[in-house]
Amino acid sequence: MDIYGFELIIFDLDGVIVDTAKYHYLAWKELADKLGFSLTLEHNERLKGISRTRSLEIILEIGGLADAFTPEQKEEMATAKNTRYMEYIHNLKEDELLPGTKEFLTELKSRGIKTAIGSASKNALPILDKLDVIHFFDVIIDGNATDKAKPHPEVFLLAAEKLGIPPENCAVFEDAQAGIEAALAAGMTAIAVGSPENLKGASMYVAGLDHFQRVSWNMP
Ligand code: BG6
Ligand code: MG
Repeated sequence: MDIYGFELIIFDLDGVIVDTAKYHYLAWKELADKLGFSLTLEHNERLKGISRTRSLEIILEIGGLADAFTPEQKEEMATAKNTRYMEYIHNLKEDELLPGTKEFLTELKSRGIKTAIGSASKNALPILDKLDVIHFFDVIIDGNATDKAKPHPEVFLLAAEKLGIPPENCAVFEDAQAGIEAALAAGMTAIAVGSPENLKGASMYVAGLDHFQRVSWNMP
């Protein structure tokens, strides 16, 4: 199947169309530093695609502090991380869109293919606004619109449902294992932005949206 054979292409946000993954990492790392342990890039792989609340739980587990704080303290930590993250993205500009994003979206639109955002982030709308790309998407489903976090398929199923498109006619671009699992659980085609060493189960692997046409399909 050719990429242009799908009726709907769903994009994860962080790490797929914009390089915000590094800011999430920096903001979480500052929290870990304050708590007295170091958060590595390898640890960070486990946080990609994971909700803010769950990310904090994983980080506290990494630091051996899983049971050290009350729910109120955890809420404060998650808020402090988000405040720091918002400072990082305050000056986000179009040039932080990942290479090929605008060209690919423009191509999809010109072919009449629907496009959606399916993101765990509660900051998706302000980010898309700063990048001036909201108009490219027929539907935007973010962390405010879903109850169940990836790898649950809710976020992608909602996008397809809103547009009345069956899951089998949808492809999802994802840079996180949780997101690939969510796409597969939704009955959609998962396209990994990353390598098979880090991301398991996708039908296709691309380095970025500028490279997707250069690799071959691995479909039955
Ligand atoms: C995902 C990121 O897109 O959104 C995660 O990959 C992040 O790292 C999650 O934790 C939630 O984002 P936010 O902006 O609501 O804290
Ligand atoms: Mg992502």
